[in-house]
Amino acid sequence: MTPRLSGVIGWPVGHSRSPALHGHWLARHGIAGAYVALPVQPHHLEQALRALPVLGFAGCNVTVPHKEAAFRLVDHVDRAAARLGAVNTILVRPDGTLEGRNTDGEGFLKHLQASAPGWTPADRPVLVLGAGGAARAIVGALADNGAPEIRVANRTDARAENLARDFGAPVLAWPWAGRDAGLAGCGLVVNTTQLGMDGYPPLELALDGLPSDGVVYDIVYAPLETELLADARRRGLVAVDGLGMLLHQARAGFAAWFGVEPAVDDALRCAVLASAPP
Ligand code: ATR
Repeated sequence: MTPRLSGVIGWPVGHSRSPALHGHWLARHGIAGAYVALPVQPHHLEQALRALPVLGFAGCNVTVPHKEAAFRLVDHVDRAAARLGAVNTILVRPDGTLEGRNTDGEGFLKHLQASAPGWTPADRPVLVLGAGGAARAIVGALADNGAPEIRVANRTDARAENLARDFGAPVLAWPWAGRDAGLAGCGLVVNTTQLGMDGYPPLELALDGLPSDGVVYDIVYAPLETELLADARRRGLVAVDGLGMLLHQARAGFAAWFGVEPAVDDALRCAVLASAPP
């Protein structure tokens, strides 16, 4: 049987955890296939994507800085990708055309539901910090699943206002300086900013404003336990780290390329954590 091939296209791409992630699933399911890191400079992206069907690739992931350019280059896109103007997963169709998807929002929601089973999207307002690509994916998933009010606070207020305008109700732009007050009545707060990541200052947020059964989700996963999450755990709140979002967003691509629905479990988490660059 011809081996099935996929990989991740980025520049640089050495930091990507995706080869370890998909490699773990390939080994576990005994699949004759390979998933490789593909460093591609921006001016070569179109050539690289067009080469996928020629080289026998089933598809690929796309990461920084190519997600928006790939959106413009593929032949078909799904609803999530169209709304975000960015793709993270590409499938080669039988006719050789390229289908772009965006699985970030779905990955976020699946991980949240697995980590906080008592939480339901339609229950209460949500506070989202940040207004970049990750925030858009998360806001889209929450809005699609019935969140009654999504408060978006961003350091650059105008970016939150643009996001709120693009999505319309139930998304509201919330002032960055007033983010502590934005926790009132929320069932969930999500940090999508880089604050708390290695090399960045911590996120300052007074969690005492969040109801005691609220969930704190940080999409940062380096470090795994940010100061925000440590604070949440000390207060007895449910704290969810960002690694699971990375793992869950990968499932749809793997299933499409290799024909097996993979599981996200502790063995996968350990394999991916062990692959961290020194
Ligand atoms: P991504 O697409 O991964 O979400 P991004 O578009 O670069 O990345 O967005 C990064 C987010 O982190 C933005 O919301 C950014 O705020 P600005 O829009 O004001 O730039 C936020 N961010 C980064 N550094 C920050 C800091 N020091 N303080 C507050 N927010 C910060």
